[in-house]
Amino acid sequence: MTSKLLAWDNAYSIGMIEIDEQHKVLFEIINHLWDEVVCRDKGSKVLSTLEELERYTVTHFTAEESFMRTHNYSGFDAHKKQHDGFISRLRQEREAVEAGATLSLDMINFLKDWLINHILVQDKTYAAEFKPKKLGDSLGGFFSRLFR
Ligand code: FEO
Repeated sequence: MTSKLLAWDNAYSIGMIEIDEQHKVLFEIINHLWDEVVCRDKGSKVLSTLEELERYTVTHFTAEESFMRTHNYSGFDAHKKQHDGFISRLRQEREAVEAGATLSLDMINFLKDWLINHILVQDKTYAAEFKPKKLGDSLGGFFSRLFR
């Protein structure tokens, strides 16, 4: 086990517990990917972890987009464009690995940097517009309905 590439810090919190928890899961999957690429002996697990990252990223983005759409977020289109670009990059990389390419550490660093920047800038921007205190108790209910 190598040291963690991504460690959670309160500075990454956007103030919405459900979304913070999902971001933590993404951190962990990227950490697994890093471990697997650094310890080359794990071979084929890289592909399954990359598939897991793609699947969970889609789940997470869908949750955020449903929330933003439901609450008529003014920056929805620009935010969704960022999500779509990232998913398309992940898909491209997964297909390349399926075809036999090796996932590079540079690519994992790109995933890490993209995610951190996205959380700190775009996610914090939408969250600031919908602070839980503004929405009262409806926030937890919204996400529990979404994942029921
Ligand atoms: Fe948490 Fe917009 O992704």
